[in-house]
Order: sequence, then structure tokens, then C-alpha cells
Amino acid sequence: MAVSYKELGLVNTKEMFKNAVSGGFAVPAFNFNNLEQMQAIVQGCVECQSPVILQVSKGARAYANQTLLRYLAQGAVEYSKEISKDGKGIPIALNLDHGDSFETIKDCIDFGFSNVMIDGSHLPYEENIALTKKVVDYAKDFDVTVEGELGVLAGIEDEVEAEEHVYTQPEEVEDFTQKTGVDSLAISIGTSHGAFKFKPGQQPKIRLDILEEIEKRIPGFCIVMHGSSSIPQDMVKIINQYGGKMADAIGIPEEQIRKSVESAVCKVNIDSDGRIAMTAAIRKHLTENPQDFDPRQYLKPARESLKQLYIHKCTNVLNSAGKAWM
Ligand code: G3H
Ligand code: 13P
Ligand code: ZN
Repeated sequence: MAVSYKELGLVNTKEMFKNAVSGGFAVPAFNFNNLEQMQAIVQGCVECQSPVILQVSKGARAYANQTLLRYLAQGAVEYSKEISKDGKGIPIALNLDHGDSFETIKDCIDFGFSNVMIDGSHLPYEENIALTKKVVDYAKDFDVTVEGELGVLAGIEDEVEAEEHVYTQPEEVEDFTQKTGVDSLAISIGTSHGAFKFKPGQQPKIRLDILEEIEKRIPGFCIVMHGSSSIPQDMVKIINQYGGKMADAIGIPEEQIRKSVESAVCKVNIDSDGRIAMTAAIRKHLTENPQDFDPRQYLKPARESLKQLYIHKCTNVLNSAGKAWM
């Protein structure tokens, strides 16, 4: 049976993005696949009082089951109230990350998602517009907000592999946002998914000049940056020190994420940094405590490390700490 996100206590992204644009911050969009990741996101964002978007990818739905993830998100709302001092909790949106078809979008909206991304970035321009508009028209009736995408990130995105970045063309953004009616727009300016964003020796740099051009054409519009993990080198070092093999993992320097947030970016997608934080903590714990076999023994420090990572992102990179209620 269909359920509205409103009945679950979730919110869409309208208010969050309005506040982010006027308040000079970006709303964190953190991916989750399991209980511990959800707990860490909520604990971290409640502690630093940041609004948050919980993201579910196609891979997450396949791994954890869509029903269970929906219930976890619903639980996240109650949990945030339970652990916050004033009992108010924080605003939480549930987003479908990289939605690849109208059918999936419909399914997720019926299932209680409050924001959906339709990723038509691999399609020819006019087809991307047509699909995105179809989604917006459908979502509008449920008050669900929609993210579209223009430009293709290098690496693997939505199971499609691109050798090179196809940067967003600033000349297209006004036309695209007007014709589709999207609430936010994901762009491609040199970020990519995963832990290996640059080759060794390459300058880890994104095209802030393109972002500036985009902002000029659609001032005040919410821009989304995917592939925004910074791949903390201290954590990569721990992974490698404790038996891992992650040589040459390189992300986007946090300073550049900060600059893009000062510019037009008001939603930042982070997944890989969380994976690295958990893996580092688990590897370290199991090496130092080889007698442990209860998953709670190693998932507890992993969850704590993840929570600290999220607090750091909200406080020092996205400027979203303290902006839960404005
Ligand atoms: O968009 C990429 C996200 O990091 C999700 O990754 O498809 O492996 O869950 P995933
Ligand atoms: P990272 O792999 O850089 O964390 O990007 C995640 C993302 O963009 C999810 O949509
Ligand atoms: Zn993405």
C-alpha cells in the first residue's frame, strides 16, 4: 500500500534548500545501507544540529531490501527525536540516489521517499528533458521534490562507465531547469564517484570556473555536487597499515568542497568517505583484538568513527552545523 513521506515524519527538500541558499551552507546527503550507517548519520547530525538527506542507491536497495531501508529511514525520524536534547529531532529527507527509470521513481514515491533523483544525464539532451519533466509532473502531485542531472561524471555512475568527464555546459542549465521544473540540479565539474578520483601525480582539482558560470545563469538555484568524498589520507593510511590495499586512493580536497559551497552548491553527496571511515576502524579493531567475534565489538568503533566524520563534514566543510532549524 502506498504511503506518503509526510505520514513517516520525513520532509521534502524545499525548505532545506531555501535555507541552504540563503544561509550559505550545503545540506549533507549521506548514503546508507544498514543500521549502523543510519545511526551514525542521525547521531552526528543531531549532535551538530544539521539537517540531513538520507540517500538510498540502487545498490543499497539490492543489498538491504527497499522495505527495510524505508523502515530504517522512518525509524531515523523517531530516533533523532529520542536522542536530541529538546525532543525536536532534525529535518530528515529520504532521497532516491541516481534513479534510473520512471518506474523506479514511481515505486519510491509510493514507498515514502520525499525526494527523488532522476539521472537522465547519459541520455541525449532532449530525452533527458523529457524524462526529467515526466518525473517532475508525477512527483508534484505528491509534493515530492526532484533532482535532475546535466553532464556526466567520469568513472562508474549508475552502472554506466564513462572514461572522461562530460562537464555540464553552462549554456544549457537555464533551459533545462525551466523546461523540467526540477528543484535541484546535479552538475559535472570534475568530481567522480568512488575512492580513486585522480591518478597519482594528477592535480586533484575541480572546475570551479564552470560552477561560477552556472551560478551566473541560474542565481539562487540549488546545485548538487555528487562524488564529493575527500578520501581522508589518515584513514587510508590506517586501512593500508592494517592489511588493506588502497594505494593511490585520492579524493576532492576539502578546501575545494568548501569553495563550491560558498558558491552555488547546496547539496553535497558523500558516500565513499563513510565507507573508508568504517573500514579503517574495523580493520584496526580486528587486528588489535583478534579474539573478538561479536560484530557489535567492531561495529561500535566503526559507527563512532563514522559519526565523527559526519560531524566534521557538517561543521568544517558544509557549514550545515547549527542550521537544522532556521
Ligand atoms: O552514486 C554512488 C553512491 O556512492 C552509491 O554507490 O551504488 O555502490 O551503493 P552504490
Ligand atoms: P562519493 O563516492 O564521492 O562519496 O560520491 C557519492 C555520491 O555521489 C552518491 O550519489
Ligand atoms: Zn552520485
